[in-house]
Amino acid sequence: MEQEIVDRRSFIIKLLWGLSALLGVLTLIPVIGALFAPLLRNTPMAWRTVGKVGDFEIGKTVLVKYKNASPLPWSGLSSESASWLQRVSATEFHAYAINCTHLGCPVRWEPDAELFLCPCHGGVYYKDGSYAAGPPPYGLNKYPIRIRNNNVEIQTSPVPITHIGGKRS
Ligand code: FES
Repeated sequence: MEQEIVDRRSFIIKLLWGLSALLGVLTLIPVIGALFAPLLRNTPMAWRTVGKVGDFEIGKTVLVKYKNASPLPWSGLSSESASWLQRVSATEFHAYAINCTHLGCPVRWEPDAELFLCPCHGGVYYKDGSYAAGPPPYGLNKYPIRIRNNNVEIQTSPVPITHIGGKRS
């Protein structure tokens, strides 16, 4: 009788350990999936029209918005992306990622100072997107630009991954 109770207790303890282990594995599956999904996903790029050449004044930097490179059907507003677009000359444009290279906060353009400022931790970038001051590890990421049929097009890509540490440019 006593042996039977010990066997039953032992069985229940093993069953509980097994269920706990199973629950732990089931809980980890979505976490592991979320961690590795960006590595497994393609990194699509797409050309997006942001306006006509004549819409942009030479010497000005303006915010342009467009759909990101890989909008998902359920993305909603999060499929919207933006860049800072500079018209440098009649035919030359530059597009800078809006995300700070420190931790990804959106930077804003200060036309009087001719600087990009990050409101989160005081990161500062020069007009050409290069690093000026603060915690960002390097300058703003740039997007390729082309002009097609008098349209200004930006080659978008997934939001750049930011880095802590690393070299400054
Ligand atoms: S996120 Fe821009 S300085 Fe930290």
